[in-house]
Amino acid sequence: MLITLKELLGDAKEKGYAVGAFNVPNLESIRAVIGAAEEMRVPVILQHAQAHNNLISLQEIGPIMLDYARRAKIPVAVHLDHGSSFDVCMQAIRLGFTSIMYDASSKDFTTNVIETKEIVKIAHAAGVSVEAELGHVFTSSIGGGEGRGVDSQEDYDNLEDIYTDPDLAKKFVEETNVDCLAIAFGTVHGIYVKEPVLDLDRIIRIKKKIDIPFVMHGGSGVSREDYLKAIGNGICKINYFTYMNKAGGEALKQYVNNKTHETLFMDEASEMVTEAMQENVRRAIKIFTRGYISTL
Ligand code: 13P
Repeated sequence: MLITLKELLGDAKEKGYAVGAFNVPNLESIRAVIGAAEEMRVPVILQHAQAHNNLISLQEIGPIMLDYARRAKIPVAVHLDHGSSFDVCMQAIRLGFTSIMYDASSKDFTTNVIETKEIVKIAHAAGVSVEAELGHVFTSSIGGGEGRGVDSQEDYDNLEDIYTDPDLAKKFVEETNVDCLAIAFGTVHGIYVKEPVLDLDRIIRIKKKIDIPFVMHGGSGVSREDYLKAIGNGICKINYFTYMNKAGGEALKQYVNNKTHETLFMDEASEMVTEAMQENVRRAIKIFTRGYISTL
């Protein structure tokens, strides 16, 4: 069943869990995510990152994501991740996506407000939810691909300029009327090259100023304890891709290295990859729903 992000996150916020938002640039990952969510009877978000247009275009994968969402036995939001232009956001709305992220976080605060506000006005008129980002979520040198480039020592010396400012978050949400906000508190897109140190109290400080659902980007590779604290503090959507993708890659390696196979077949490889990713998603969802089997 296809629903909006606003509806999904409203329930998560009320009940105190997080909905997994998985990037799905191929059929294997779509099937893995829907399969895991249906098995566990929890809502889920299928998302396409604009940065993955080099793997498959929004026009090609979008209708397939929507088809799986409509036929799913659980509520599914279909979302554009890190849309960086007005045009790509409008393309997603026209395709029937129920939610978009407009990411102008690399621009100055005023420009981010003006541009996001314009997109929110149009999206809401079309019944589509909007996520925006304030602050900067880094991208690792391994994997990732979205958000600001690799973190440097200079960035670590200026974390106050990088992480989301609670007062600015309040101003941003009030002026733009976004449905949820991606906040920066130390997570990284891609593989963590060093142990993540998260400023989890910052989520509480932001929530005290503005009480809307918050989004964690760079959701792979965080410890179980930090996920649970982040969710308890107000995170309702967790963007997760790299470790699911890595689980698929490792399954493929196993298939290729298994010497008992005389001939390698693409359909067998695809099945193994899907199963491995489904297992990885299942584990993530179990933590995001705080160990509940079903939130429905
Ligand atoms: P990971 O790279 O940590 O899986 O994060 C994905 C993400 O944040 C997509 O927006």
